[in-house]
Amino acid sequence: MHSSPLSFAVASLCLPTVFARFLGPLNPAPADLTSDDSWVRSKWENITSMLEDHLTGIAQDEALSILDNITFSLGLFSVHDPKAAGSLQYHHTGPDIKNSSFGVNKVDGNSIYRVASMTKVVTVYAGLLLLDPSDWHKPLTEIFPEISSLPKDDPVHHIQWDTITPFSLSSQISGIPANARPFDAGELATALYFSEDPIDPMTLGLPPLTLNSTGINVPCQDPNCSGVEYLEGIQAPTFPVFQSPGYANTNFILLGRVISKLTGLATNEEWFQKAVFGPLDMKSTSSLSPTKSPYAGYVVGGDPETFAFQGGITSSSGGIFTTTNDVAKLGISMLNSTLLSADHTRKWMKPNSFTASFDFALGMGWEIYRYTDKVTGHVTELYTKLGDAGNYASYLVVVPDYDFGFSVIVTSGIATAAERSGAAHLLADLISEAILPALRDQAAKETKRNYEGTYISVGQNTSALTLTYNQTAGSGFGLTITSLVNDGKNLLRFFQGTLGSNQLVLAPSTIDYKTKRRGFVATPVVPAGEYTGLFSKMFATNSDWLNNNGLTYGGQALGTFYFDIADDGGAVAALPAVLRGKSFKKSV
Ligand SMILES: *[C@@H]1O[C@H](CO)[C@@H](O)[C@H](O)[C@H]1NC(C)=O
Ligand SMILES: *[C@@H]1O[C@H](CO)[C@@H](O)[C@H](O)[C@H]1NC(C)=O
Ligand SMILES: *[C@@H]1O[C@H](CO)[C@@H](O)[C@H](O)[C@H]1NC(C)=O
Ligand SMILES: *[C@@H]1O[C@H](CO)[C@@H](O)[C@H](O)[C@H]1NC(C)=O
Ligand SMILES: *[C@@H]1O[C@H](CO)[C@@H](O)[C@H](O)[C@H]1NC(C)=O
Ligand SMILES: *[C@@H]1O[C@H](CO)[C@@H](O)[C@H](O)[C@H]1NC(C)=O
Ligand SMILES: *[C@@H]1O[C@H](CO)[C@@H](O)[C@H](O)[C@H]1NC(C)=O
Ligand SMILES: *[C@@H]1O[C@H](CO)[C@@H](O)[C@H](O)[C@H]1NC(C)=O
Repeated sequence: MHSSPLSFAVASLCLPTVFARFLGPLNPAPADLTSDDSWVRSKWENITSMLEDHLTGIAQDEALSILDNITFSLGLFSVHDPKAAGSLQYHHTGPDIKNSSFGVNKVDGNSIYRVASMTKVVTVYAGLLLLDPSDWHKPLTEIFPEISSLPKDDPVHHIQWDTITPFSLSSQISGIPANARPFDAGELATALYFSEDPIDPMTLGLPPLTLNSTGINVPCQDPNCSGVEYLEGIQAPTFPVFQSPGYANTNFILLGRVISKLTGLATNEEWFQKAVFGPLDMKSTSSLSPTKSPYAGYVVGGDPETFAFQGGITSSSGGIFTTTNDVAKLGISMLNSTLLSADHTRKWMKPNSFTASFDFALGMGWEIYRYTDKVTGHVTELYTKLGDAGNYASYLVVVPDYDFGFSVIVTSGIATAAERSGAAHLLADLISEAILPALRDQAAKETKRNYEGTYISVGQNTSALTLTYNQTAGSGFGLTITSLVNDGKNLLRFFQGTLGSNQLVLAPSTIDYKTKRRGFVATPVVPAGEYTGLFSKMFATNSDWLNNNGLTYGGQALGTFYFDIADDGGAVAALPAVLRGKSFKKSV
């Protein structure tokens, strides 16, 4: 039975207000998510048996009752444990899908769902793979010269198309309206005028609408219209570009048209296939709706006609159909830089704009959550994309710090829209709140096994390095240098005095898979203090960033330590950079 070596500390913990490390993981990403010894498997079994007990009626849990009418598929994936994607999945079929005369009656990893706006991040991925980096910063008036003549003299009423770029579209900071006719999910007139039970807007205090304002004269008439026709129907700006992010389907419908224009691949499906689905062998994924009723292999939530709606130019915003297994291929390829180079991947997985919340930011296609670990206080970024439309909701979540990710896909033809969204949020919370701590503990356990111990350099005098994994909750959590003696001299004392802390913790920084050498950088752990404001606090809370390993001896950074790693992940030698190539062998 597992008992977490770390959990003891949590209850009594009062987190220090200071956390002074570099952005990024505390430890190398874990390699074992699936064995009987893995914290991840054990936590996964815990949450899935909780779900199973509730859904089969063995142990009713009020908090999970929102799932009762939902069909869902959950799947974890990892770069370093290829078994995770197949074995850490959970599927549940709700009563309407069990009974449906369309599509599957039981869901699994190969069941094809709509995933709605999860699509948006795949559109960006395709764009990153097909466009020239400079294309992202071209004004739309250069990409579509036809729109140069649109009015622009009034920035309150006219969108300034010559300032809007594909980059601003992809980062949801173009300032253009959320939706535009004729695909305007937010248009209230649709419900008021055209519902079965029409309401006269004037009884509500709203003005009557003219034919023009009901959208009858918009140049785009159907999902096969051109990008320019669609763009011409987009009304006044919400914000100027690069002022404040705002979620917009318009951004991603236009981004799809930009990719088609610049690649010459006319339909979204052509460039999705060329850039992503084809190379990753995502055979069950498409932006085209199935045409052969009763839709074998698909999960048909709700009305089959709505389900099979062909998205046309809107499919770059929310049109993808996919499976849990294909989403795992997609996520692993992103984390492992299979299609996009590693430097471009790292650049992609960074925020481009804050929001008004401390723990939420936006990147190119990404909705970025900042998760604060309850034991260490360390912040981990979750790069995510939500989908939520019609009868479907989904999450793609990738966590570069753990080379790990997961997907949640839900549908229901009988739950309300609020219950369906609520179910997706609940499932993503259940996974992240259980699995992120398990990944922390698993990474700590593997780092302890792979790096802890004494490394010795054989010579006339004593030269040894000792690393101890510090499991105390708080900012000192991590691989700690507990002794460094060179030629009989206590060099650690010099390091501690110079770097300004008695506790130096190593975090992974660089890696070369060819030579199997890995760089780490030492962080001086600084205790929390009292600050008069942001500026004085900055020197403590951001000391690693600020100092940037900047103290050197003979040009070699004091904080840099190299390790040579064996095939099983265990360190075999340590080389403190300041000792200029001197190698300390791990004693076994
Ligand atoms: C899950 O873990 C919690 C906390 O350790 C435990 O109380 C619970 O019984 C476990 N549930 C299952 C279904 O294993
Ligand atoms: C599930 O759907 C059925 C039929 O529509 C409804 O009677 C029931 O209240 C729903 N259950 C929950 C938990 O929403
Ligand atoms: C990740 O990329 C490496 C190097 O390209 C490759 O050898 C490995 O098979 C990939 N891993 C996965 C899970 O795709
Ligand atoms: C399933 O189908 C049966 C037979 O058509 C029907 O009696 C039952 O109400 C259906 N159940 C649900 C949950 O739709
Ligand atoms: C719609 O707007 C256009 C351009 O403003 C105008 O020429 C046309 O007469 C309007 N049509 C109606 C029916 O109001
Ligand atoms: C859009 O084009 C597709 C493919 O040519 C066609 O099947 C579909 O009927 C068209 N839709 C509309 C609304 O014209
Ligand atoms: C061992 O230490 C002594 C005294 O500090 C020093 O003189 C000598 O050079 C050292 N030997 C080696 C091989 O470094
Ligand atoms: C372990 O971390 C705690 C908290 O930072 C610290 O008080 C303790 O001294 C550390 N132990 C070692 C050996 O560095």
